[in-house]
Amino acid sequence: MSIALVILAAGKGTRMNSDIPKVLHPIAQVPMLVHAMRAGSVLSPERTVIVTGHGSETVAKVAQGEDEETQIAVQEEQQGTAHAVAQARQALEGFEGDVVVLYGDTPFLQPDTLERMIEARSRNDLVILGFEAADPARYGRLVMKGDSLERIVEFKDATDEERALTFCNSGLLACDAQLLFSLIDDVSNDNASGEYYLTDVVEIAGKRGLNVTAVACDEAQTLGVNSRADLAAADAVFQSRARAELLDMGVTLMAPETVYLASDTVIGRDTVIEPNVVFGRGVTVESGATIRAFSHLEGCHVSRGAIIGPYARLRPGAELAENTRVGNFVEIKNAEIAEGAKVNHLSYIGDASVGAATNIGAGTITCNYDGVMKHKTTIGENVFIGSNTMLVAPVTVGDGAMTATGTVVTKNVEPDALAVARAKQENKPGYARKLFDMLKAKKARRDKEA
Ligand code: UD1
Ligand code: MG
Repeated sequence: MSIALVILAAGKGTRMNSDIPKVLHPIAQVPMLVHAMRAGSVLSPERTVIVTGHGSETVAKVAQGEDEETQIAVQEEQQGTAHAVAQARQALEGFEGDVVVLYGDTPFLQPDTLERMIEARSRNDLVILGFEAADPARYGRLVMKGDSLERIVEFKDATDEERALTFCNSGLLACDAQLLFSLIDDVSNDNASGEYYLTDVVEIAGKRGLNVTAVACDEAQTLGVNSRADLAAADAVFQSRARAELLDMGVTLMAPETVYLASDTVIGRDTVIEPNVVFGRGVTVESGATIRAFSHLEGCHVSRGAIIGPYARLRPGAELAENTRVGNFVEIKNAEIAEGAKVNHLSYIGDASVGAATNIGAGTITCNYDGVMKHKTTIGENVFIGSNTMLVAPVTVGDGAMTATGTVVTKNVEPDALAVARAKQENKPGYARKLFDMLKAKKARRDKEA
């Protein structure tokens, strides 16, 4: 069966109080909309249509960045959820198969829930996803008759008796595409909100003698985001799930609640993560590494046995081989650090490669930027870079070479050579004493004048 996803994302999200469209606010550093698209991808959709309204262009850009074939249907005026789905009609012209309607602001949907909906769809014409609500609040209520769903009544239009129902509408549904559009044609806006309710298709289908049922999932999966507080709560839910998964997989988190993860963070077993570590997008850490406290990693790869931090910053393109060491106040960007190499203190290594077993002394800087362009620094194997060396890129230091402390390297250094580029030291006997005496006399004169 072919599947098309229709993801509703036209809502303004007034309560976010934001210039950014609601569905682009991130959870675990990935826009909510992308979470919804990824959840839907389990159904291998043949087409994906995002219904956009506010900030349509930016939403389209993000959606097509995730999947370039995504189609965009603009809903100029938000006249309700049925009206929103109707906007996808053109994009689904000629499509034969099922439509699954998702919301762009419910990022916690689990893949198996969608699979269960599709499974139920094989025995029914229309399937709605419902949940038992701890506090049904203003959700639409599902009016069941045995296994059949008779109708959905919106809170605003419900009687007291209906409001007492706790089985609620998540908003998600599955239905044959052409049938769904034909049901929507019969939806009117004669209700308390004056909107075209998608929920009305249930009763309309029933009147046509079609089979309608509801599949249940747990409430957490249907959690919607409407405010910054909801966003923070949703992120917290994601974080605690992701931490629990890592712990299950044999990763040690010394203080789990202080480790912040991205939705794509991958960490191997027996790796130890100390407190207060932040993972941005695109990080993989192999087994048996140690990420010490207060480190910040994004877009990087850390191999087995490496020890990072405390207070290290790994930026995109940092590739750390096995048993490397990156110590405190070290920043690494777009650089390969080969096996066993050490960058232990207060350094910046950017646009560089560092060979195996090389030692980078404290305060080393790769001067990679000339104000206009970036340049590369290549450091060979078994090199000793003295403390406070400035490597003015583009520059190469050969295998087994050494740079003297404080050297500004502007020319390539051949293998096994020692580069020294600093002013020669001169010691002047007795000068310190003389200078002290002069300065003390000066201070005494000034104190007297005051
Ligand atoms: C809807 C359901 C309700 C359900 C609840 C679950 C209807 C009539 N009601 O109510 O039964 O319990 O969701 O959260 O469907 N949207 C558009 N265009 C529109 C209107 C909405 O794209 O014209 C999008 C919104 O951006 C949002 C989703 O559809 O992603 C739901 O809209 P919302 O206004 O939140 O519906 P509810 O009133 O919460
Ligand atoms: Mg809502």
